[in-house]
Amino acid sequence: MELGTVISTLDGPSTTDFSFVVSNNKVRKGHYVQSETEEGLLIGFVTDITRANRYFERAESVAEYERGGESLSKNFPTTDWEYVIANVRVLGVYIDENLVRSTFPAAPGAKVNLADEKLLRGILGFDDKGLRLGELEHHKLDVRVNLNRLLQKHFAILAMSGAGKSYLASVLIEELLERKPEQGRVSVVIMDVHGEYGGFKSSPEYGGNTTIFDGRKIRIGLSKVSPQILGEFLPQLSSAQKRDIDSVLLKLRQEKKSKGELFGLDDLIESVQKSDMKETTKGPLLATLSSLKSLRIFGKSDSPSVYELARSGRLSVLDLSGIDNMRKKQLIVAYFSRKLFTARKKERIPPFLLLVEESHNFAREKASKQDMLSKSIIEKIAREGRKFGASIGLISQRPVQLSTTTLSQANTHIIMRVTNPYDIKHIGEGCEALDESMLRSISTLRVGEALIIGEAVNFPVFVKIRRRNSKKSPKGEDIDVLARKFEELNEKKKKDVEAFL
Ligand SMILES: Nc1ncnc2c1ncn2[C@@H]1O[C@H](COP(=O)(O)OP(=O)(O)O)[C@@H](O)[C@H]1O
Ligand SMILES: [Mg+2]
Repeated sequence: MELGTVISTLDGPSTTDFSFVVSNNKVRKGHYVQSETEEGLLIGFVTDITRANRYFERAESVAEYERGGESLSKNFPTTDWEYVIANVRVLGVYIDENLVRSTFPAAPGAKVNLADEKLLRGILGFDDKGLRLGELEHHKLDVRVNLNRLLQKHFAILAMSGAGKSYLASVLIEELLERKPEQGRVSVVIMDVHGEYGGFKSSPEYGGNTTIFDGRKIRIGLSKVSPQILGEFLPQLSSAQKRDIDSVLLKLRQEKKSKGELFGLDDLIESVQKSDMKETTKGPLLATLSSLKSLRIFGKSDSPSVYELARSGRLSVLDLSGIDNMRKKQLIVAYFSRKLFTARKKERIPPFLLLVEESHNFAREKASKQDMLSKSIIEKIAREGRKFGASIGLISQRPVQLSTTTLSQANTHIIMRVTNPYDIKHIGEGCEALDESMLRSISTLRVGEALIIGEAVNFPVFVKIRRRNSKKSPKGEDIDVLARKFEELNEKKKKDVEAFL
């Protein structure tokens, strides 16, 4: 499709930019275009479009004319003088099936066409067998990202709330669950803070491959917890107190092991009580342990086990929506992330993707000692996961609060609508590949639109996320639906009572 003709301007065409006058009004900001040059086929991206008309250039004449009750457009051939200019950023020149840096500008007078879609697929780095996340904005081209490129290190989905992060995460999960064994299936584990992923269980296509774990029933098996990890769970202890509890824990472990028994927090508390440590240490230690006990998170063995959590081609949802206590959520995220990572290192479980909703709560930029618990393991997986096939996907609506280390180390950023200027600035700082104009477009994205940038694609791309197949969780339902359900239920209750009387 022909779109227009390259023009010469004050500063162009250059090797990085050119403008063309539009002959086809179908052209849109975000279109990929091509133009033949001596060097090869130049490929570019429409960054902006402006419209001009000399008849309407001078405000005072327009105002004066229209004041007389006359219309400029009625009496003059104003439409003949309208023209539209599109500005293009050059991505490169296509030579021998490769896109290389352009070293020669577009030719003024040359025709500009819509980029060939087959060509684009290769240029942007899509993979025919990759994960189908949606369609390239303004083009009829599926965005299929290569699994390895997306999951190799880690990625972040960032946007304000309501922009479609969880929806996109669901689409991604669907793509992962639909893979065939011969394509390589990973396991997916999601820390579902708001209980939004329950719908997978009731979806016919995915239900058989989904397990939901109720957060309130999750237990950390104390028998397997090392003194070091216990120490991390209790950051408020002094090093002397830590030493004391270490020795009690080790002694208890030996004793129980010889009998082939497991033990829980009650056993540990009893051992501390019976131990001969100083009363001044014992008192505070017991108080700390009993505060830990009130979280009701420790049991004798892990539930679920790491083997139940990570299984090839399956989704495990850790539904944390029933837990109010932040510390408990952090303990769960920290403990099970670590377990998954360690088990994967030893190749006891398949490669996995760990998705963390509300990840700013688990990898905080300004972390207190307590917050450090989950932050350190998330940063560790983000740093070292690649070597072992342990991938992490961070989802957050408060990028400002998300640890800069993890943010800047994410090698793919998927950014959806953000309007808060501080968040936009923070995203810009954590993501080098973003330029000014893209940063500006972030606030104009609509729900369900995303900018993918980084390792997963060759160039930043704007994507319309596809429709999901899985069901929405009842917890994520709109207020009007919930309100109707509530009334219907009440109505039914009333009828039941009447029938009974
Ligand atoms: N790609 C999309 N297509 C259609 N609807 C979408 C899409 N993305 C999001 N939505 C709708 O927008 C709303 C908010 O999406 P959600 O994923 O919950 O946002 P977030 O997790 O960013 O707060 C939901 O009601 C969802 O159905
Ligand atoms: Mg969400």
